[in-house]
Amino acid sequence: MSADFPAGFFDRLDPSPDAGFYAPSRFVAHIDDAAIAAVGALYAELGITGRVLDLMSSWISHFREPPAELVGLGMNAQELAANPALHEHVVADLNTRPRLPFADASFDDVVCCVSVDYLTRPLEVFAEVARVLRPAGRFVCTFSNRCFPTKAIRGWLATDDAGHLAIVRRYFALTPVFGAATAERRTPASAPGDPLHAVWAVRREPDGGR
Ligand SMILES: C[S@@+](CC[C@H](N)C(=O)[O-])C[C@H]1O[C@@H](n2cnc3c(N)ncnc32)[C@H](O)[C@@H]1O
Repeated sequence: MSADFPAGFFDRLDPSPDAGFYAPSRFVAHIDDAAIAAVGALYAELGITGRVLDLMSSWISHFREPPAELVGLGMNAQELAANPALHEHVVADLNTRPRLPFADASFDDVVCCVSVDYLTRPLEVFAEVARVLRPAGRFVCTFSNRCFPTKAIRGWLATDDAGHLAIVRRYFALTPVFGAATAERRTPASAPGDPLHAVWAVRREPDGGR
C-alpha cells in the first residue's frame, strides 16, 4: 500500500470480504468496564459534545453523555440500529471503499474505538476523516490489547502496546492535515484488566495553524 510500511503489513489472516465476518450481530463489549469508563472519561475531558462521527461503531459508543448529534458508521446494521446514542447511522465497508459519505467539514470531532487495527487502507481513511472534520476538530482513536485476530492487520498483530501506539501515531504523522498527535495510556499501568490507550490529533486550520 505504501512505502512507509513493510510488505504484508496490511495483510490479514482472513482476507475474505468484511461483510461476511460482520454479518452476524455481536452484542458484546469488546473491552472491560474500566476500559469503557476510560473511553468515556477521555471524551468528557476533551469536551466531545457537538456533531460527532463514531467511526467503526456498533451498539455502544461509550460516551458518558451522548453528544448533541452522533452519527455512527460501521458494518452491522442491527448493532448500529440498537445503539441508543446514535442519531443516525450508515453501513459502509472502509476496506472496500475508504470513503466517508459525508460533506467536507461536517463534524466537530470524530472518534474510533477499538477498531483502527482493522483498517487495511488507514491512510486513505485518515485523509477522509480530516476532510469531514471542521478545522480544530479532533480525531480520537482508542484501543486496547484485544482484537479479532483474523481481521486485524498483520502489522498490528506483530507488535505490542508500544508498537500499536507507534502505528497510530504514524498514521497521523502521514496525514499532514493533522497536527502533532498526543498518545497516552488512559488506564493506570498498575490496574488489572484491559489497558486503554488513546492517540488523538487536531485537524489543522486551513492557514496551517494549530
Ligand atoms: C471490535 S468492534 C468495535 C465496535 C465499537 N467501536 C466499540 O467500541 O465497541 C469493531 C468494529 O469495527 C467495524 N468495522 C470492522 N471492519 C470494518 C470495515 N471494513 N469498515 C467499516 N467498519 C468496520 C465493525 O462494524 C465493528 O463494529
